[in-house]
Amino acid sequence: MKRNMNVFKCFILSAALTALPFGSRCEAQGLTPQACEQTIVTPKPAGRYLWLPIQESAPEGKVQVIRQDALLMEQNVRMAREHVDYYVPLDLRPYQNQGTYKVCVQNVPTGSICFSKMVQNDDVNYAFINERYRPLYHHTPRRGWMNDPNGMFYKDGTWHLFYQYNPYGSMWGNMHWAHSTSTDLVHWNDAGVALAPDAWGTMFSGSCAVDENNTAGFGRGAVIAMYTSSRPTPFGGDVQAQCIAYSTDGGKTFIKYDGNPVLCAEDKDFRDPNMFWNKDINAWNLILAVGQEMRIYSSPNLKDWKEESRFGLGYGNHDGVWECPDLFKLPIVNSKLSNRKSAWVLVCNINPGGPFGGSATQYFVGDFDGHKFTCDSEPQVTKWMDWGKDHYATVSFWGAPQNRRTVIAWMSNWQYANDVPTKQYRSANSIARDLGLFQDGSEWYVSVKPSPEMLAARGNKVKAPTEACEIIVDLKGSATITLANAKGEQVVMTYDDAARTFAMDRTASGNVSFSEAFPCTTVAPTHGRIKQLRLFIDRCSIEAFDADGKMAMTNLVFPSEPYNSIKVKGGKATIYEVK
Ligand code: FRU
Repeated sequence: MKRNMNVFKCFILSAALTALPFGSRCEAQGLTPQACEQTIVTPKPAGRYLWLPIQESAPEGKVQVIRQDALLMEQNVRMAREHVDYYVPLDLRPYQNQGTYKVCVQNVPTGSICFSKMVQNDDVNYAFINERYRPLYHHTPRRGWMNDPNGMFYKDGTWHLFYQYNPYGSMWGNMHWAHSTSTDLVHWNDAGVALAPDAWGTMFSGSCAVDENNTAGFGRGAVIAMYTSSRPTPFGGDVQAQCIAYSTDGGKTFIKYDGNPVLCAEDKDFRDPNMFWNKDINAWNLILAVGQEMRIYSSPNLKDWKEESRFGLGYGNHDGVWECPDLFKLPIVNSKLSNRKSAWVLVCNINPGGPFGGSATQYFVGDFDGHKFTCDSEPQVTKWMDWGKDHYATVSFWGAPQNRRTVIAWMSNWQYANDVPTKQYRSANSIARDLGLFQDGSEWYVSVKPSPEMLAARGNKVKAPTEACEIIVDLKGSATITLANAKGEQVVMTYDDAARTFAMDRTASGNVSFSEAFPCTTVAPTHGRIKQLRLFIDRCSIEAFDADGKMAMTNLVFPSEPYNSIKVKGGKATIYEVK
């Protein structure tokens, strides 16, 4: 078959695409084949998924869905050239039964292996790799890439977690919001993609809130999502603007507002809106990360925003870009040192600039009157919510019950997130944690404790560590805790009672070679004595908490077999399975 497409010269490529009924290759005259090749695939009428073979070391090609002359969808995909690492599904359902359409693969050389390995079927488990590092009780995407938690909210007994998601590969790109739900914060159900890229760009991080009073006019109790749309400009860099979408079915499906974007600016790195209803001013507040500061806005209706103030220049750590903010009030309960009843916490995730390199979560404690955040501390004071290397993009759930402030972090670090040794999926979330406040000297700090749901998830007592367990270590003073396997791989944790520090050394923890930034020892101040430690192990992660909440440390580990022995010098360990 021959078709004329202006300067394009097309001919059939049948041998390489035996699995598919039709294919053609078009070569633009005078250009290098690499830059102009495109293969056109006509999917069969039946078979919901077109399985795209991925090779992570391949450059990104473009996969487009085209009906007649309309571009219905376009994604960047590392289509396999020489070998297949894993498969990702292109869900054809949205395009089926509405006339013919084609899938066009661009910038992938015609002889690439992906064309003979592409398969169309209904098998959601097709070529599924059951990987040994996949955590058993932490949230992970089934396939594809995940980074920040987004738009988390609690409503009618269900915890909703949205997250930054690439369905078309296990590396960052093509940002969507995907959705999972849970009734116990431990077991999660995949609820699919919630927001897909559109003409305004890809879907960057943001927040959700329930509009109880119908201030936005989308209905009483509508769930509103606010996110950043990000799209590259032809001149380099990205345009980032804030958009909203609403759901009238409790967060299952969203409709994007036709007045988007609702907040634009010419500033670079203008993103990650976090909005909440502030009853002190009877209006919405919004905190937004802009470069190296936070901007605070107010609105009566989530559509019209007024800038109220800015916070951050000169405060805390500025060795990276400020991202993913949060702002909330925490109660102060039974303080012996102060009659303060509450304080506000401004969360500021920063990358790079973390205490051990790369990404981390800093925060500021102070007051907020609906217009301006005033920090308690001197500008040079920096506070970290977690002292490990793998705790980023921490934000809280809107509407958690009993006035709880429950947070979840992304358990990775931008220094090596794309390189960790998992394939079919990448990244897990931390366990849920509940925040409070405590005082040390004249400073207020945020306390971090595993959410009470983790107690309910405690299973039987066992003699030795398992790949998914909680270890309680009761301490009398300084202690050394060594988790190890028969291969001699180990993680050494040290509590120094005199120095009041806790350290975790993962330099010999297993596979540490995929990034120079991975092997390290992280050290935390403990703000007093630790009497009991709670360690959560789940195949590729260790989260350590002072049971009183004054220290948290989250680190990934990739042992070649699970740690199955523990030695404690200076304390006593009790081990529980996690259900
Ligand atoms: C933080 C971040 C956000 C951004 C998102 C994009 O990890 O860089 O600032 O919205 O990731 O995926």
